[in-house]
Parts: sequence; C-alpha cells; structure tokens
Amino acid sequence: MSNIKKFRIKSFKENRSILKLDKISLKFGRKTILDNLNLRLNNGQILGLLGPNGVGKSTIFNLITGLLSPDFGKILINTEIVNDYPIYQRTLKFKIGFVPQHGGFFHDLTVYENLKAIAEITIENQSYRGEKIDSLISKFELDPVRDIKADFLSGGQKKKLVIAIALISDPKILLLDEPFAALDVMTIKTLQEIIVNLQSINNISVILCDHQARDLLACVDTAAIIHNGKVIADGTPTNLIKNIDAQNVYFGESFKIS
Ligand SMILES: Nc1ncnc2c1ncn2[C@@H]1O[C@H](COP(=O)(O)OP(=O)(O)O)[C@@H](O)[C@H]1O
Ligand SMILES: [Mg+2]
Repeated sequence: MSNIKKFRIKSFKENRSILKLDKISLKFGRKTILDNLNLRLNNGQILGLLGPNGVGKSTIFNLITGLLSPDFGKILINTEIVNDYPIYQRTLKFKIGFVPQHGGFFHDLTVYENLKAIAEITIENQSYRGEKIDSLISKFELDPVRDIKADFLSGGQKKKLVIAIALISDPKILLLDEPFAALDVMTIKTLQEIIVNLQSINNISVILCDHQARDLLACVDTAAIIHNGKVIADGTPTNLIKNIDAQNVYFGESFKIS
C-alpha cells in the first residue's frame, strides 16, 4: 500500500486562468501523443501533471515553452494566443520559466558564473543584476558552493541552481519537469517547501510533473492525470485519489494519502 503525507495543501483563491491549453493535438510521425487535450492553470495555483513515462508530460512543457508547436489547438497565456511566439518571447514577454528534468546549467561554470551568464542576458541594470544573483544564492543556500563548478554539486544543489537560473527572469509561470527525480527524501522535502513558497511568497503559478504521485501530490493544489493523450481526471489530491477513472488508469485501488 502506498501512503503519501501531505506537505501542505493550499487552496487557491483565484479563479482567473493564467495559462490554458485548448484542444491541443500533437503527433510524432504516425503516433498520436496528445489528443484534444485541455488543461488550465489558474493564477497562483500549483498544478501537478501525473502519468507514466512516455505519456507526454515533457511534450506538454515543450509546447508551453515553444520548443514544439501543436498540430491543432491553442495555447493561451492570460487571454492571448501565444502559438506564434518564439521561445525567447515566451520567456521575456509572457514570463515563463522552465526547469528541465536533466541539465539546464553550464557544467564547467561555477554557481555564480552560471547565474551571471543568464543574468547578463536578461537584466540590464548592473547593480540590480548583482543584487538578484546574490539574493538567489542566499535564498537557495548556495553560498558555500558559490565558487564551485556546477558539475561538482550534489543532485539537490544542481536542482536548486537550475530553479535559481529560471527565477532570474522573474517568471510568473514556472514549469518543473520531474523535479524530484533521483533525489533523497530530505532534499525532496526542501524542494517541496521551495515550490510552495514560490507560490505563496512570490505568487508564481507552477506546473510540475512526475511519473510518481507521492511527492507531487504532497505539494500541489490540484493535479491532472494524463492518459491516452488526454486529461482523464483532475482535482485536489484528496478528490483525485478517490476518482474512479484515476484509480483505474493510474493509482490502482490501494493508494492513500495519510
Ligand atoms: N522529438 C520527438 N520525436 C519523436 N517522438 C518523441 C519526441 N519527443 C517525445 N517523443 C515520444 O513522445 C512520447 C511522449 O514523450 P514525453 O513527453 O517525453 O513523455 P513523458 O515526459 O511523459 O515521459 C514518448 O513516446 C516519446 O518517445
Ligand atoms: Mg518527461
């Protein structure tokens, strides 16, 4: 039997949609990956995407960041259709930040140099740039490894660095692709706290995905189960695990929140 312990469930107060995928379809060759998929993120919400490996979670992130274009359907940020905007404009104009599952940093640069390299592109004012880098280093407790090359950081420190890099451009929406993968329990707890704080302190709306439910459900407001290219169930963690469709295709019968 699987049990998950709730880290903190926040009820989101705003009902305004900040990001919407409207009837999105995508094929790779002849294989349908997404099939008329609808998804909505409210302002100030933490949304989880769940589904087994290969179901299309990273593909959804790639569509949002602009790495991929859908065959059909619209991607809306606030109320604007962004399908035709290139990646850099989605980052700068629409304030989308992305934390990939693997990499996302320069291996041979130090923590400080990594942040500086990105800040030099996105922050013009030099003194603000320095302040921003220092505040992110301190926020994520990276001071002791500030001058260490990223390749030599622990898994958790690397993940914090990549989140810090994504935060340099002050995103309104942050996408985290399997942020807990290959991390130890204590580091996962720290990351869950960071994610919840990004929402509650910085009012960043967050989408994170995972193929495993336990760690994800502990820190989201709502989650959606992806199956056969569609969202087949969504809701708060408590409601989702009671959902018959979600149980049938994803959780099984014995999954519980403790
Ligand atoms: N660029 C691509 N070309 C062809 N097939 C791809 C490409 N990217 C992903 N796929 C396939 O699409 C499916 C969904 O992939 P992905 O979104 O990475 O799944 P998930 O992140 O849920 O594990 C998988 O079957 C994968 O092999
Ligand atoms: Mg993936």
